[in-house]
Amino acid sequence: MALSVFVAKESFAGEKRVAASPETIRKYKMLGFAPMVERGAGQAAAQPDAAFAAAGAEIVEREEAAKADIVLKLRRPTLQEAEFYKKGAYCLCLLDPYGHNAETELAALAATGLRAFSMELMPRITRAQSMDVLSSQANLAGYCAVIEAAAHYGRLLPMMMTAAGTVPAARVFVMGAGVAGLSAIATARRLGAVVTATDVRPAAKEQVASLGAKFIAVEDEEFRAAETAGGYAREMSADYQQRQAALIAGHIAKQDIIITTALIPSRPAPRLVSAAMIKSMRAGSVLVDLAVERGGNIEGVAADDIIEIDGVKLIGWQNMPGRVAATASELYARNLYAFIAQFTDKESGIFAPDSNDELVKASLLMAEGCLLPVIPAFAYLSKGDKAAVKPEKTAEESDEAAAKAVVNNAAEGEESDKAESVNLEPRI
Ligand code: NAI
Repeated sequence: MALSVFVAKESFAGEKRVAASPETIRKYKMLGFAPMVERGAGQAAAQPDAAFAAAGAEIVEREEAAKADIVLKLRRPTLQEAEFYKKGAYCLCLLDPYGHNAETELAALAATGLRAFSMELMPRITRAQSMDVLSSQANLAGYCAVIEAAAHYGRLLPMMMTAAGTVPAARVFVMGAGVAGLSAIATARRLGAVVTATDVRPAAKEQVASLGAKFIAVEDEEFRAAETAGGYAREMSADYQQRQAALIAGHIAKQDIIITTALIPSRPAPRLVSAAMIKSMRAGSVLVDLAVERGGNIEGVAADDIIEIDGVKLIGWQNMPGRVAATASELYARNLYAFIAQFTDKESGIFAPDSNDELVKASLLMAEGCLLPVIPAFAYLSKGDKAAVKPEKTAEESDEAAAKAVVNNAAEGEESDKAESVNLEPRI
């Protein structure tokens, strides 16, 4: 009998995204699965039930989740939702292992017998790039941050020469040049702004330059050693942070828009913009903090609010990708499909994730009634693997410049056997 896949309607307040698209529904059918979509699941992401039905899904009520072998979601299921699921069903979603009430809620969910994959723990290795939900969503967050800033900035971004005189280009400063930061740089450049950026990882310097932005950083010994084997930033010393703040304070005073994206794995976000720096900016300036869900990079920013200080706006929208829910859903849906297809036998149509596979070891967070330890995605870079982020090209950039911008994160792998003892034999 065909495996049934259930696409849930999100219950988390304000979450508009959905974990499948008509495109992936068609692909699940081709794998031999029987897809079911909860009524209204895609409504807020511009995917009406009719589009899913036309792609071959059965439109069902929530209770039908009880029949599903695999549940696809965006957010961690609530206990009430999980109670509908079949014991031993697989669930793919963002379990948010460092987030709100993680310990208690995840343990309770695990106890229901759910076998759940935390998609944000997928290793950032080349083989898993098509399953990398952090990248697919961060890319959109960077774009949205610039669009939000532009919408709240009472001036233009591009330079404009008119009969009434010349309008200067806006100055945009991007702090943190990972996936979201690079996307913000590319977007701001497309809109015609003069863009500068900073990061503590030396590898970011070339990428920033390849997108036509100027790189600003304290480039000392600590900076040269700031990148971990996995390609992530280390927490910098208090001394470095002071010198970084002194360098950027003068720069910030001349900026019109600041986008902050700086994160350190499993730590609170570093504080990069102080109240004094905000005071130095001219009225009408806009700051967008993409790190707000982890405490924020900007002093005074508030989650899901706009704070105005002397005419300067601080924007703290959480879930930026959810603001472009249609695109975010399509990309997220492809990430989930890529993972499922990887572990589905094309002949039998059985989904059998191999517990010895590093993608499964990393992302499986609950099985057999137990909560498994969280191993950060960056710990899984295997020796010699080239983890690469290709920044988006602006129209005027050559292919040669973009080719240079590939980061080589070859690293010593830290192997884990957390799922070694978990029995993932298909029960279906
Ligand atoms: P992230 O979301 O963890 O952090 C965002 C950025 O903030 C990073 O570039 C980080 O260096 C920077 N940052 C941290 N502290 C800072 C400070 N005090 N001042 C300024 N900037 C600061 O990073 P993201 O976007 O998840 O990327 C992290 C790494 O993962 C990158 O090195 C990238 O190469 C790698 N990666 C690999 C992929 C693959 O498929 N192999 C895909 C995506 C990312």
